[in-house]
Amino acid sequence: MSAQLIDGNALSASLRAGLAARAAALTERGVTPCLAVILVGEDPASSVYVRNKVAACEKAGVRSLKDVYPAEVDPAVVFARISELNADPDVHGILVQLPLPRRFDAEAVLEAIDPEKDVDGFHAENVGALMQGKPRFIPCTPYGVMEMLKSRGVTLKGAEAVIVGRSNIVGKPMAMLLLAAGCTVTVCHSQTRDLAFHTRRADILVAAVGRARMITGDMVKPGATVIDVGINRLPDGKLCGDVDFASASAVAGIITPVPGGVGPMTITMLLANTIEAAERRAGR
Ligand code: GUN
Repeated sequence: MSAQLIDGNALSASLRAGLAARAAALTERGVTPCLAVILVGEDPASSVYVRNKVAACEKAGVRSLKDVYPAEVDPAVVFARISELNADPDVHGILVQLPLPRRFDAEAVLEAIDPEKDVDGFHAENVGALMQGKPRFIPCTPYGVMEMLKSRGVTLKGAEAVIVGRSNIVGKPMAMLLLAAGCTVTVCHSQTRDLAFHTRRADILVAAVGRARMITGDMVKPGATVIDVGINRLPDGKLCGDVDFASASAVAGIITPVPGGVGPMTITMLLANTIEAAERRAGR
């Protein structure tokens, strides 16, 4: 391996220390930051993510509320709970874990969250604000990626950035952030004709498709910064990213591992957004 690693656990630890100090300062002023998490159904990956989010809150001095509903719950029950949390002045952030069961209109659920408490940044109003370059809350995963790039001083102005994946959660907001930072941005997806043609031009390559090891070393420009957002489970139970680490790390200049890369950063930025929301409410 010739590439330098960006250790998401180490970067998270240093950022979380600063966040815990901000949470403690708020608590001293009588405003303990509070995140409400809603989980519908028993998707094993979602259950693990929610458990990790709640545990991270506790460690950082952020209060958390967790509501878990069976997959068959009447959506009206979830909407009623969101209304209650919207109205509660002691709750600063609300997160509905995705994906929701198919019966749910996920868009309507996200729109029901008060945009001032939408710490995921998924509400249409917040998506629009991000697109206009005036973000209220930056979606946690792309926010974490930007922090990783910043930590290494990666040049963004004028850089060719290629994102593989066009999801609302990662690909699209990632494109907006890199664009705002001065990159020339290409977004590739399942209909892209010659994926390798694009990825080989990338100074910054972000893989967010959810397909194990699909980005191989021959698709990477020598010296590029490769950010792997994928978390895939292999048949043997091990986790791996969307990037084939063994071959890509021999070509890249900087690379993120899976696990221990972007994953912990997502939760760190969720804490950042929740504390930010609480600071806004408390008045700085
Ligand atoms: N499911 C996968 N990633 C996310 C995320 O960042 N937020 C929420 N709410 N659900 C997710």
